[in-house]
Amino acid sequence: MRKNLVVAIDGYSSCGKSTLAKALAKKLGFIYIDSGAMYRAVTLYFLRNKIDMNDHEVVKDALQHIELNFHARDYQSHITLNGEEVSEEIRKMPVSEAVSPVSAIKEVRREMVKQQQRMGRSKNMVMDGRDIGTAVFPDAQVKFFMTADPKIRAERRYKEMVAKGDTDITLEEVFENLAHRDYADTTREESPLTRAEDAIILDNTELTEEEQLTFALEKVRPFLPA
Ligand code: DC
Repeated sequence: MRKNLVVAIDGYSSCGKSTLAKALAKKLGFIYIDSGAMYRAVTLYFLRNKIDMNDHEVVKDALQHIELNFHARDYQSHITLNGEEVSEEIRKMPVSEAVSPVSAIKEVRREMVKQQQRMGRSKNMVMDGRDIGTAVFPDAQVKFFMTADPKIRAERRYKEMVAKGDTDITLEEVFENLAHRDYADTTREESPLTRAEDAIILDNTELTEEEQLTFALEKVRPFLPA
């Protein structure tokens, strides 16, 4: 039995995993780790350095030159890639379009999982991603598997992007990108997105952020020290 409490949140793209994870971490005073940001930062490095993803030796070598770090500020996760703050750049379309194939590379997954497991060794934390409850922390005390109607997910994501000033994108493009990533994430060979048998399903199509937080807190509460 692990001594520190780990809450694993997995699920499809843009169904509010990070919103819930951040809110939970804040409420509980836990660390929040956005594992998707790690795959996105690796993707950004690959794009910038024109890494040939089909060449395993090149990929392995590139991974040696990548250092990722999280900086918690107000429970917003900020990630640095070799010391450079890249939190905004990794959310833009070029990275979103390239991240699925990068996250399917065996060497990339091995390295990320190793780093994530190291982070979760001693501290109480909430981590969100696609394989947290299945591959990274199969022994996490609480696991959620999140889902929501694909149209609603695309609308939420689109609004978020427009609010950030990403105006040269259409709702259809966002919908297509999500559908494509869902397909790639669930069908890849290396730890595909699946629900851990002991994960609690959370469909938030018709839930407010407040309601989903209340639901999740109720599930975590029994594991908190008295
Ligand atoms: O959660 P996100 O959309 O920021 O994740 C970006 C991509 O990274 C997503 O398409 C799948 C991949 N990913 C993964 O394979 N495993 C994780 N634990 C987290 C993300």
